[in-house]
Order: sequence, then C-alpha cells, then structure tokens
Amino acid sequence: MLSAAVRVFIIVVLLIGLAGLVAVAWLTARGPSAAQAARIAEVLEDTRPAGEPAAYAHCASCHLHDGSGRPDGSIPRLAGQRRAVLENKLYRLRAGTMHLSVMDPYARTLLPSEVSEIAAYLSRLPEIEIATSAASDEEHDRGAALYAQHCVSCHGARGEGHDGVLASRLCGQYAGYLERRLKEAAAGTRGPADAIMQGVVDTVPIDDLRLIVAWLAAGKGCASP
Ligand code: HEC
Ligand code: HEC
Repeated sequence: MLSAAVRVFIIVVLLIGLAGLVAVAWLTARGPSAAQAARIAEVLEDTRPAGEPAAYAHCASCHLHDGSGRPDGSIPRLAGQRRAVLENKLYRLRAGTMHLSVMDPYARTLLPSEVSEIAAYLSRLPEIEIATSAASDEEHDRGAALYAQHCVSCHGARGEGHDGVLASRLCGQYAGYLERRLKEAAAGTRGPADAIMQGVVDTVPIDDLRLIVAWLAAGKGCASP
C-alpha cells in the first residue's frame, strides 16, 4: 500500500499534467498569435514576387513565376500574352468548352475575378530572353513574307495578336510550342476550339509553316508588344 503522502503526490502530478494538456489544447485551438500570423504571411509573401496574384501560386509550379513555361514547348510562354486572349482561354477551359487534361482541374476552380487578375498580371510580365535562332537571315525574310501572306490578318502585323478575333500573340513563343500547336490544329485535336486555325493551316505547305515558325520564335517582329 502507498502511503497517504505518496498518493497525494501522484494525484498532484497527474493534475499538473492534465492542466498542461488543457493549456496546449487551448493554445492550439486559438491558432497562431497575431505576431506569428504576420510572420507566416511574410514568409509566404517572400516566395511570391511582388504583384503576383495569390491565385497564380498553383499555376507557377508549372508556368513558373516569370510565366516562361518550358523552352521545349511542352508548356507555352504566357508572359506578355494578350490579356483578352488569356481571359478567353481560361474562361473556355473553366466552362469545359475547351479541354486540356492537364489544365482542366486548375482552370475549373478559378473565380472570374481571379481569371482577370491572372490574365492582367501575365500580360504585363516583361519579355523573356529569346534563344538565338539557327535560321539564316534569308530564311527569316522568307518566313516574314509567308507570315504576311497567311497569318497577318488575324495575328497582327508583327505577330502581336489581335483582341478583336482573340488571336494569340505568337512572336517570341517557343518554336516547339508553335510547331506542336500547328500540327494539332491541322489534326483538329482541340475540336471546335481549333476550327479557325484548321482551315488556315490546311492551305499552307509544311515547309512554309516551318519558316514562319522560325521567324516568329526568333521574336523578330515583336520587340515591344
Ligand atoms: C501541372 C502543370 C500545370 C499547372 C499547375 C497549370 N498549367 Fe497551364 N498549362 C500546362 C500545360 C502543360 C499547358 C500546355 C497544354 C497544351 O498545349 O496542350 C498549359 C497551358 C496553359 C495555357 C494556354 C492554353 C492554350 O490555349 O494553349 C494557359 C492560358 C494556362 N496554361 C494558364 C494556367 C493558369 C492560369 C494556371 C493556374 C490556375 C495553370 N495554367 C496551371 C500546365 C499547367
Ligand atoms: C482567320 C484568322 C486566323 C488566321 C488567318 C491565322 N490564325 Fe492562328 N489563331 C487564330 C485564333 C482565333 C487563334 C486562337 C485559338 C484559341 O484561342 O483557341 C489562333 C491560334 C494560333 C496558334 C496557337 C496559339 C496558342 O496560344 O495556343 C498558333 C500557333 C497559330 N494560331 C499560328 C498561326 C499561323 C502560323 C498562321 C498563318 C499560317 C495563323 N495562325 C493564321 C486565328 C487565325
């Protein structure tokens, strides 16, 4: 048998332990203090460039903070793309009238206000350095002439795009992306979304498209958007 003094001691220790647990539970339920919350917000803010909308945080994991995507063309360069074009694409992805399996889950959850914020932000991002082109000056001149013949009416004199017909800015876009999208348009991969482009691409020989892509990707036309 334990002596009365030992029993009292054990009870006191248990009570102190219980009080400690209650205190921890209370502190946890209360959440971080105002000072802690401010520090957490500061750390999150540190990793987000100034002016970047909060809703772009997920997007940046693939499209990167500077909107440069991937030079191999698997992810387009979005920096400097026209605001109206970006809004139009995001709204169609969101509504399910255009499907890109990798993009659908991200686009669906965007609020209309977030679509505008992201589109405005990306359209204002500065030019990304363009890789030097392997094409000769002669090939670029030929590309410019073919572009003027087949594409200028919708994509603008310098490849800067057009809000009226919601045609994307193409100058400075990665060659790999332009080539892939032209192939997809020819094949009608995106269905009705590519209907306009499909009609155009069918009329231009593949070698001519290559020259147009080389001229566009070299950013020759679009020093300023
Ligand atoms: C998991 C990676 C990933 C995430 C996250 C992601 N994207 Fe994309 N996005 C892609 C890829 C890959 C493409 C190119 C798809 C293609 O061309 O088939 C793309 C294409 C796009 C396009 C161009 C669509 C077109 O017509 O070619 C826009 C605009 C875009 N993304 C915006 C966003 C925005 C805004 C977010 C965040 C809400 C986002 N993306 C999140 C991978 C991603
Ligand atoms: C009749 C108008 C029209 C003409 C002419 C035209 N395009 Fe387009 N193009 C569009 C529209 C509109 C889109 C946007 C489609 C979308 O948002 O889904 C587009 C999209 C594209 C895209 C995909 C860009 C992206 O952001 O996904 C490429 C690449 C392209 N055009 C290249 C060309 C080239 C090269 C030519 C000339 C050979 C050309 N286009 C001629 C209207 C046109």
